[in-house]
Amino acid sequence: MASEQIIAIFTTMNHIHHNYSLKALNSFGLDARAASYANPADKESLITLLEEAHREQLPLLILGEGSNILFKNNFQGLVIQPGMKGIDVVKENNEEVVVKVGASENWDRWVSYAIEKGWYGLENLSLIPGSVGSAPVQNIGAYGVEMKDHFEWLETYDIQMKQQVRLDFNACRFGYRSSIFKGEAKGRYIITHVAFRLDKKARLNLDYGNIKDVFSLANGSTPLDLRNVIINIRESKLPDPAQFGNAGSFFKNSMVDRTVFNCIRVEYPEVPFYPNDGNQMKIPAAWLIEKSGWKGKRVGNVGTWPAQPLVIVNYGGASGQEIYDFSENILQDVESTFSVSLEREVNVI
Ligand code: FAD
Ligand code: EPU
Repeated sequence: MASEQIIAIFTTMNHIHHNYSLKALNSFGLDARAASYANPADKESLITLLEEAHREQLPLLILGEGSNILFKNNFQGLVIQPGMKGIDVVKENNEEVVVKVGASENWDRWVSYAIEKGWYGLENLSLIPGSVGSAPVQNIGAYGVEMKDHFEWLETYDIQMKQQVRLDFNACRFGYRSSIFKGEAKGRYIITHVAFRLDKKARLNLDYGNIKDVFSLANGSTPLDLRNVIINIRESKLPDPAQFGNAGSFFKNSMVDRTVFNCIRVEYPEVPFYPNDGNQMKIPAAWLIEKSGWKGKRVGNVGTWPAQPLVIVNYGGASGQEIYDFSENILQDVESTFSVSLEREVNVI
């Protein structure tokens, strides 16, 4: 459908913006445009908007804060950025609390608020960019904790069944950087609220890598200390999107069959790995990319971050297509060097 038609459909509705720049709404800083854009603040406005979009058969894109999205093109449809706010305790006893959080709350502000209130468990997930509503989509994870570890349920609007539904842990089918929202039910659900189960007694998770040593060197003892340690580590490794456009890890870490792993190990005895379920081994994609010659490599305005080659950076003025092509070249080189197919973590639009 042409943009002019989409504009005509929505001119009578409130709070719809047309030919809307998404530049400030994606962490690559790409100047993509949405034919239409809306930011419904509550479920009722969301439903009205969806009914209209359905009648007109408009393509839909749900946007959080755009920190895991690559716009290769403009979006010829309606971008909906859910605007539901609020942090409410729904259940509580001496040990635990269940808190319901609106989709548009910023993830890291929620983590910081929870620690302030004495609700613990999310410390290791500090400073991950994005909104609360997007956190279940790829089951965000860092430093030995995943969102699913503290997930209780979520509220969503089911576009297919045209009804609001609550989905529990099993229904979401969380895995490593995956869920039904990124997989089989992609595009079907709009998450409006997420509920988390948090501990009132701190149980610090220091198991990942050298976190325990860094924590003790910093004389850490509290959840807030752990949050600060994680923030320091992240700031030392990852580029700040406000300075260098990026979407965090561009690819997922790789699960490879033991036979492929054994072949790699013959040539590279130093290959880092983590045994996974069944017959698979997890190999850091950063290592595969580095060994394929892509660490710190730059082509025009696109490059891999020198300290972490899993992150692709827009050094300024790159197009979405250029970033995509750069990622495709990495993918092909890793495939031909190691016979391992990298999978993009970033959502390509
Ligand atoms: P968006 O990029 O806006 O959307 C992501 C996907 O979710 C899209 O497919 C979108 O359609 C869908 N979506 C968004 N909101 C909703 C909703 N309400 N309902 C249904 N679908 C929705 N991720 C990690 O897991 N661990 C990390 O350590 C990490 N570090 C990062 C570091 C940097 C510097 C950056 C830039 C990113 C990092 N990421 C990390 C990726 C990113 O922070 C997460 O994927 C985050 O959850 C994205 O949130 P967002 O609101 O920006 O989502
Ligand atoms: N490595 C290299 N070369 C490098 C950097 C790393 O070979 O230049 C190897 C090393 O063996 C290192 C290993 O990669 O031990 C892992 O590196 P790191 O600890 O930096 O983590 P990662 O596996 O690259 C993952 C997540 C990050 C998350 C961190 C911390 C994925 C795809 N990425 O990165 O998540 O913050 O662990 O838990 O799982 C994201 O998803 O956007 C993201 C940033």
